[in-house]
Amino acid sequence: MAIIRVHDKSFETYLPAETIQQRIKELAGIINKDYAGKKPLFIAILNGSFMFAADLFKHLTIEAEICFIKLASYKGMKSSGNVVTSIGLEDDLFGKEVIIVEDIVDTGKTLHNFLPKLLHQQPKSMKIATLLYKSEAIEYPLVLDYVGFDIPNKFVVGYGLDYDGLGRNLKEIYQLV
Ligand code: IMP
Repeated sequence: MAIIRVHDKSFETYLPAETIQQRIKELAGIINKDYAGKKPLFIAILNGSFMFAADLFKHLTIEAEICFIKLASYKGMKSSGNVVTSIGLEDDLFGKEVIIVEDIVDTGKTLHNFLPKLLHQQPKSMKIATLLYKSEAIEYPLVLDYVGFDIPNKFVVGYGLDYDGLGRNLKEIYQLV
């Protein structure tokens, strides 16, 4: 098991790259079936979801659109919790089949606060795909439709997720030691 340092903390390998890729292929397969004949719009939430969104999108065989938006930032190792606004949502969601793409759902606060803004635009449907889900940490009710991995309530980095800006480039996901 590899131990790495990010800033002042040590992390150990938790999900190897092949495990992540295999699960993303499976999720894409399910989405391909669920959305056969439809043309969903994926809304990927930056920064953390950029790798997951890209890999998931590559495995889609249905017609699909994607856009990227930015919400609140996550400072240090504790969720800042203040979702201010979204930047970059230019699409009109009226009548669209929307799939939100997140890197991780922790307390659920980010999506819980943000979803009403999207629903206000009256999409035809709205589902959530998240690579990681800390089910033990959830505080705000959310229905998660596509979950890559249910993980323990420990801080993780890698594969798009950061610790104070670093670690996003790692192919694997690492857990705080
Ligand atoms: P929530 O609002 O508490 O669900 O937090 C969601 C956001 O917090 C995610 O989009 C991440 O940016 C960040 N986050 C939560 N847990 C972690 C973690 O373990 N590592 C890195 N970022 C995290």
